Amino acid sequence: MSNTKRQLKLGVILSGVGNDQSGWREPGAQTNASIDINWFIANARKAEAAKFDHVFIVDSPYITPDTTPHFLNRLEPLTLLSALAVSTTHIGLVGTLTASYWEPYNVARQFASLDNISNGRAGWNVVTTGLEGAAQNYGREAHFDHAVRYARAREFVEVVQGLWDSYEDDAFPRDKETGVFLDKAKQHKLNHKGEFFSVAGPLALSRSRQGQPVIFQAGDSNEGRNLGAAIADATFASAENFETGQAYYKDLKSRAAALGRNPDHISVVPGFNPIIADTVEEAQAIEKAREGKLDLDKLLVQLGRPFNYHDFRQYALDEPFPDISNLTLNSYKGRAERILRIVRDEKLTLREAAWRFGTQRSKFSGTAETVADEIERWFVGGAADGFNLQSSRADQFDLFIERVVPILQQRGLFRTEYTSDTLRGNLGLPIPENRYTRARGEVAAVAAE
Ligand SMILES: Cc1cc2nc3c(=O)[nH]c(=O)nc-3n(C[C@H](O)[C@H](O)[C@H](O)COP(=O)(O)O)c2cc1C
Repeated sequence: MSNTKRQLKLGVILSGVGNDQSGWREPGAQTNASIDINWFIANARKAEAAKFDHVFIVDSPYITPDTTPHFLNRLEPLTLLSALAVSTTHIGLVGTLTASYWEPYNVARQFASLDNISNGRAGWNVVTTGLEGAAQNYGREAHFDHAVRYARAREFVEVVQGLWDSYEDDAFPRDKETGVFLDKAKQHKLNHKGEFFSVAGPLALSRSRQGQPVIFQAGDSNEGRNLGAAIADATFASAENFETGQAYYKDLKSRAAALGRNPDHISVVPGFNPIIADTVEEAQAIEKAREGKLDLDKLLVQLGRPFNYHDFRQYALDEPFPDISNLTLNSYKGRAERILRIVRDEKLTLREAAWRFGTQRSKFSGTAETVADEIERWFVGGAADGFNLQSSRADQFDLFIERVVPILQQRGLFRTEYTSDTLRGNLGLPIPENRYTRARGEVAAVAAE
């Protein structure tokens, strides 16, 4: 970790029309943004001009007619990010790909290609897919069990990282005189044979300037946190409030340390959707007006998502939260467990739970000053190393860049200029040494003794 002053890591989730129910209806919202590459290029360049660390593309291989607008009609992440790679120069490019329905060799090729095309700015958000319906798109009757898909994901990432090291960084002399294009001793087969995968390698692509793409991960359950602590350079958390943010932060860093990792080498980056206005009252009014557009039916659908779209519309609204203990929590387990705990502890009715968990209330709404204060509180208070802005309102993204970023820069909390043009450089992460070069060095060191 570079010994420069600790600064905020800022990313933005580019989700076109927005991954909530009503953003697309806002005045000024471009209703086909999720499939318009120029919308993505313009917003990636806007984030780069504001010196953000990365843009982030969500993904999920399963939809229903009730799915939120952005997810209903959107571009495939790696194809989209390749277009952004040639339209930007410094900003990181993070794409989501599930470890449950891809082959490690293909995923290794795709991200290594994006990393080379972008000259060292690729990041992979490793998910295991919470929506069980995805299984039907891949010839499976049932989705992988929660614990199994996390165990598979761990081996999956191991294989991909092994393949990324197939060529040592000086494997290609490309010497026209001698005719030596490749130094064969520096090409390596992986020969992986594991519980879930058997992959020989080598990968037909050398490493980029940042060595390997950066690994992001999002998972809240015990298994999710263990995977993050083991593999992630950064984790996306969904913290309800400052206290749960602190608890997650402390828990994840201590799990990483327990695995012998340097906790500074793993950044905790919660998602946040700020609402900025000239006064705090005005910001609250914006939030109220927004909630006024939400209909309960859609909130009940949103409440059902972490329970694999369990249909809560079948129950009485003003009765205590229904007993769904018969449901196996095989979807978004962490979130489902948290909802069940809170509705039980706070004795919420179904209607109250729908408003509480069906809406995406902002934890950061107010003036630019008060939003900057809250960001600083989380950053210095051990609840976050940065934030992933998820705004489905173009105006709020602009307001954040115009009004909040300058305040964060004045306070020395955020960069004013890029000091690197790789994602690892942006995040202050070391370049991982090629495992075969390291082994070669160790052998030489022993021989020299
Ligand atoms: C900020 C954030 C972004 C996420 N993005 C995605 C995504 O793009 N695709 C996806 O399948 N899951 C995504 N997830 C869901 C996680 O991958 C994971 O399935 C979920 O957090 C439940 O994990 P758990 O079962 O370990 O609790 C995201 C979660 C968070 C907190």
